Amino acid sequence: MAEHYVEKSPADFFYENRAIAGFDNPVRAAYSAIRELVENALDACEENGILPDIEVTVERGESGGEWIIKVKDNGSGIPAEVIPECFGKVLFSSKYGNVQRRGRFGMGGTMAVLYGQITTNKPVHVRSSVGDGFEAEMDIKIDIQRNMPIAIPPPEKAMKKSDKPWHGTEVTLYIEAEYPKARQKVYEYLKHTAVVAPYMNLRFKDPYQELIFTRKTEKLPAKPKEVRYHPEGVDLETLRRMIANSKARTITGFLTSSFQRLGPQTAKKIVEKARLENKNPRRLSDKELLKLYKAMKNTNYQAPDPSCLSPLGVELLKAGVIKEFNPEFAEAVQRPPRAYQGHPFIVELAIAYGGGVPATPDFLLFRFANKIPLLYDEYSDVSSRVIRQINWSRYGIKPDMPIAIFVHVVSTKIPFKTLGKEYIAYIPEIAREIEIGLRELARKLSLYLSKKKAAMLAERREKTLLKYAKWSSALISEVLLVEEEEVYNLYVRLVRSKTGGVKIGGEDTDS
Ligand SMILES: Nc1ncnc2c1ncn2[C@@H]1O[C@H](COP(=O)(O)OP(=O)(O)OP(=O)(O)O)[C@@H](O)[C@H]1O
Ligand SMILES: [Mg+2]
Repeated sequence: MAEHYVEKSPADFFYENRAIAGFDNPVRAAYSAIRELVENALDACEENGILPDIEVTVERGESGGEWIIKVKDNGSGIPAEVIPECFGKVLFSSKYGNVQRRGRFGMGGTMAVLYGQITTNKPVHVRSSVGDGFEAEMDIKIDIQRNMPIAIPPPEKAMKKSDKPWHGTEVTLYIEAEYPKARQKVYEYLKHTAVVAPYMNLRFKDPYQELIFTRKTEKLPAKPKEVRYHPEGVDLETLRRMIANSKARTITGFLTSSFQRLGPQTAKKIVEKARLENKNPRRLSDKELLKLYKAMKNTNYQAPDPSCLSPLGVELLKAGVIKEFNPEFAEAVQRPPRAYQGHPFIVELAIAYGGGVPATPDFLLFRFANKIPLLYDEYSDVSSRVIRQINWSRYGIKPDMPIAIFVHVVSTKIPFKTLGKEYIAYIPEIAREIEIGLRELARKLSLYLSKKKAAMLAERREKTLLKYAKWSSALISEVLLVEEEEVYNLYVRLVRSKTGGVKIGGEDTDS
């Protein structure tokens, strides 16, 4: 029987397999759509050094299950000619570079548009301006079988002069979804986003409530720089493409100009190892390319340059945690930059105890990756696995204490297990950093708790001893014929000198 061969477009593939992008059912779709649009809005601000002012509204649409999601930002805006592709073509992105961002795949926002289209048959409406006094406004649908945008009007006819200059983007999405069931997750998502983006203003309104997250600092984290590839991070295909794009005439020239952490000495050694002296990189045969690749793999390099990363920093993380939970004790640490498979990463962690932190049967875990809160699949996440491996009783800590743990991993390539960006794979290098950080925080909390316990015991002893102060000073003053008040003062001073030495506080306390 003759086989029937068909080629599928990326849009068609993701249409059929939307679960892998976080759009598996009407509840999850509502959450994912809001999340993807908010993330694009935040990226558009932070990448351009703009303090984010974001407005999100969720309203009921025409029919029972239709919802209108509107997200407006004050980011860079999008040039009119690429607006259709940005929202109407799967795997189209400005974020494929070697730098830390929330976006990575070129499909989050587009999947929201696709889901909206297949459930309501309505286009997404986009208004955007790059701040030049003009703005573009259009409706976009996706031709799913061809993975092509259909924009009405087309970009050249969509431009008009703005009433007053502005920059940013406003996206209005129509989607058939079960928003009421998703809304708690949406609130949680926004609350956690505010912890890792304390420099953001965000107003949110749905038919149930209004949430306002106010900027707590004017300080944006340092803008990450785009960096060259680290030699450990490339594979054969990337190497081939890099050679094709390079103008270098020698292999040493190509290596030193294309990679970070690869100086002339190392380049010379690699060329010698591969026996490719005097070869033009663009004329390498497949075999020679493989030799070069293997020689590169068998070389040791310094850890990757972390300037492409933008962690939050201990101060901002701690401030975010204190702001949201008002705990009795909070502490944060940042681990030094490390690398896995050539990709730089930094882990920062915080722990909060007591105060507004509720006691639950297990530790409350808050996970973040490149400033994205991760709310699903906690059990499989690397942080959750590391927490289970640690023997907490060594630190006098029990999981049912009111403890919240925050783990933030930043990297140019977060090893997400799914395209929906919900949990981080167990990469030994990342797990190790999380473990070291957690142990450091556990030690600090343990010290605080033992100081607190000692102070409580001392206080109790003091109270008991002082209970008898009046009675015993009266007795002593009678026997020794001394003023009662004098004996009383002496007694109190003596008791305090024995019990009052223990105080909790200092650097560990944040209450
Ligand atoms: N609010 C916005 N402001 C500026 N550019 C935007 C905005 N929303 C989308 N874009 C552009 O559209 C592109 C595609 O967005 P989309 O969400 O589909 O993918 P992504 O953000 O690149 O990656 P990911 O799949 O990880 O979200 C982005 O790379 C960005 O260039
Ligand atoms: Mg995106």
